[in-house]
Amino acid sequence: AARPRVLSGIQPTADSFHLGNYLGALRQWVRLQDTHEAFYMVVDLHAITVEQDPKVLRQRTRVAAAQLLAIGIDPRRSALFVQSHVPEHAQLSWVLECQTGFGEAGRMTQFKDKSAKQGTDRASVGLFTYPVLQAADILLYQANSVPVGEDQRQHLELTRNLAQRFNNRLGKTFTVPEPYILKDTAKIYDLQDPTAKMSKSAATANGLVELLDEPKRSAKKVRSAVTDTGREVVFDAENKAGVSNLLTIYSALSGRAIPELETAYEGKGYGDLKKDLAEVLVEWVTPLQAAVKSYLDDVAELDKILAAGAEQAREVASATLARVYERIGF
Ligand code: ADP
Ligand code: NA
Repeated sequence: AARPRVLSGIQPTADSFHLGNYLGALRQWVRLQDTHEAFYMVVDLHAITVEQDPKVLRQRTRVAAAQLLAIGIDPRRSALFVQSHVPEHAQLSWVLECQTGFGEAGRMTQFKDKSAKQGTDRASVGLFTYPVLQAADILLYQANSVPVGEDQRQHLELTRNLAQRFNNRLGKTFTVPEPYILKDTAKIYDLQDPTAKMSKSAATANGLVELLDEPKRSAKKVRSAVTDTGREVVFDAENKAGVSNLLTIYSALSGRAIPELETAYEGKGYGDLKKDLAEVLVEWVTPLQAAVKSYLDDVAELDKILAAGAEQAREVASATLARVYERIGF
């Protein structure tokens, strides 16, 4: 039987992915390859909804792809590609925009938040229609499941509505995708402010652990992570947010269950936990960085992998778009 299809993307808007991206999403992308036919893309079309420096964007797109390969996205099993290499994304997006109500798009809370931050006059129309492009991303591949976090639920709901609307008006064309609730994902918090999620736009640079940062620097960040005034190494997200965050990261990187770690650190203090986690992190990140470097040392080969991924993606995307154009009357 054909495997269910899964589609996911990540923006090339930072010089490196961080631990939150990896443990909250990308690690599961790797696992989904075992059970699904996967389409994974670096979403550069989404990235330009806010201003980008062209050179930086081009470099970050390659670095993002190299990191995906290094963590274990396997181009022999999955289509790994860059969104702008598959023109059908923009083409389907236009068709779907014409089927989206202005008010309907205006209700997207992520746009409201982001445009409020930038000022509505400066926010681009692309930022406004972003969720429709996201719908096109998903529907082009007839994806059955889409891994989503809480922040993306509303966008997936819009995607489902657009698929159903098109199918009802013009005949069955799109698979209506279901949200895929990722198992074993961890929400990772800022090391300096464990009440805030770790983010590339973190207020505290020392709270952010980037995969491509100098391992020594990351180790130092872990060793100086904020913890409470207690001593006992136990998981208690409410009262011991800092320690719990460190345990979550430790467990995910080492494969040791949290209760096992609690037992191992009985009678020891936070200092021991941080020191050991710093080592675990360095051991994990060092070979990962070597792998990323080897992909970036041969850009021609990297671009070849991405071109092959785009070709694989276009086989599916162009078939969907042809059907859509036919239904529309083009
Ligand atoms: P950022 O918050 O740094 O801007 P993105 O919004 O680009 O990160 O997130 C990319 C992916 O990584 C999304 O799937 C998101 O849910 C996940 N992610 C980001 N930060 C975290 C975190 N701190 N913990 C868990 N998952 C995260
Ligand atoms: Na974000």
